Amino acid sequence: MLKPSVLKELAKIVGPANILQSPEELIVYSYDATRRESLPWAVARPAHAAEVSQIISLANRERFPVVPRGAGTGMSGGSVPTQGGLVLTLERMNRILEIDERDFLAVLEPGVVTGELQSAVEKKGLFYPPDPASHKFCTMGGNVAECAGGLRAVKYGVTKDYVLGLEVVLPTGEIITTGTRTIKSVAGYDLTKLLVGSEGTLGVITKITVKLLPLPESIRTLAAFFKSVDDAAQAASDVLASRIIPRALEFVDSAALRAVETYLREDLSGGAAAMLLTEVDGPVDSTVRESARLAEIMTQCGATRVQRAESTADREHLWKARRAISPALYTIKPKKVNEDIVVPRSKIVDILREIREIARKHDLLIVNFGHAGDGNIHTNVLVDETDLPRAEQAVKEIFGATLQLGGSISGEHGIGIAKAAYLPMEFAPDAIAAMKRIKQALDPNNILNPGKIFLIG
Ligand code: MLT
Ligand code: ZN
Repeated sequence: MLKPSVLKELAKIVGPANILQSPEELIVYSYDATRRESLPWAVARPAHAAEVSQIISLANRERFPVVPRGAGTGMSGGSVPTQGGLVLTLERMNRILEIDERDFLAVLEPGVVTGELQSAVEKKGLFYPPDPASHKFCTMGGNVAECAGGLRAVKYGVTKDYVLGLEVVLPTGEIITTGTRTIKSVAGYDLTKLLVGSEGTLGVITKITVKLLPLPESIRTLAAFFKSVDDAAQAASDVLASRIIPRALEFVDSAALRAVETYLREDLSGGAAAMLLTEVDGPVDSTVRESARLAEIMTQCGATRVQRAESTADREHLWKARRAISPALYTIKPKKVNEDIVVPRSKIVDILREIREIARKHDLLIVNFGHAGDGNIHTNVLVDETDLPRAEQAVKEIFGATLQLGGSISGEHGIGIAKAAYLPMEFAPDAIAAMKRIKQALDPNNILNPGKIFLIG
């Protein structure tokens, strides 16, 4: 619990209306998209970096945990206050401060919703490519803290490829800026890259400068339906081998298709066993040519139907279905152990086969969908509460197979609490010790998001 004197000081920093303590309010800030939950002792809603800095300084003096939070859409428990303490929500810091059309960049606060940034820059003919499935709700601070990936990473990369610089409150309270407004800079250590993806353990992000691109002239979207997962996986592989880089290449298996069809009450696939959703962008002549070639590859790999989105509404409809898969899966079973393994692109067929074998061995329903173009598959073990131990054993084996194929246990959701036990499968003790020394150097009192990434003890 926070001492009354600390609560009084917090109220002085952010104003009494911005300290939340009622049981109902605490519940709102107790969980994320993993549905793991733990109540904070209080919630603070700062409006400026200076307020964040004063709160962190107080936390250091009084030694209480501070858990930064965006919109709570994270998928590894990163913003769940597992040790109680103070949730620091960045929701009031939600302004786009600048869109620079000549230098192709935007400066914004962490509480800006990603989809709102995308729309704002698109109105000026510019483009912010990272596109998490939750773009309508997630915030840029959370995207930076977790290094969000999303639907367009296959061609455009992930959040870290767009962050030029940050303003950050360090775990000891200092406000620093990192990076530049330039495309190049090799001055000093790259603290920007260290902070992106550090899951709120090394600093609280209070301002973000992102790089923008010109908005592509045209987009063409195709949905291809297959009678087997192997055919779809082979088609994904052949697309990449064809040297065409689509801006999205998403895979959806039959269980995920059925779940989303039930959720949206519509038949999208005519009972297909798998779908690939792919999109190319660029000048009109090139998207016409590339989408025709992609349709040909899908057909050669056994697609039973290739459907082209004929209008923006058609296209949005297909993407709405893709973005709804994650919530739709909860209609199958109450527990969803959702992973985000990533393998080299050429190994998609292999990892899907390995997962199928692990599912068979443990007699589990494992549903797969995701970013086939990046080798990043969301593998979801769907179980009842009583089957959780079996699901965990299967996950461990899936991680083992992923690493054997040269992959990583997390492509985009981060380690948080969900995967902390498995980090030693990917990194040797010395590598983990080096990471912990960085944490210790920046956060000597371990007040910022403690208990995340590394197993306690
Ligand atoms: C997605 O790609 O839909 C998200 O990463 C969410 C998920 O993995 O369920
Ligand atoms: Zn994803």
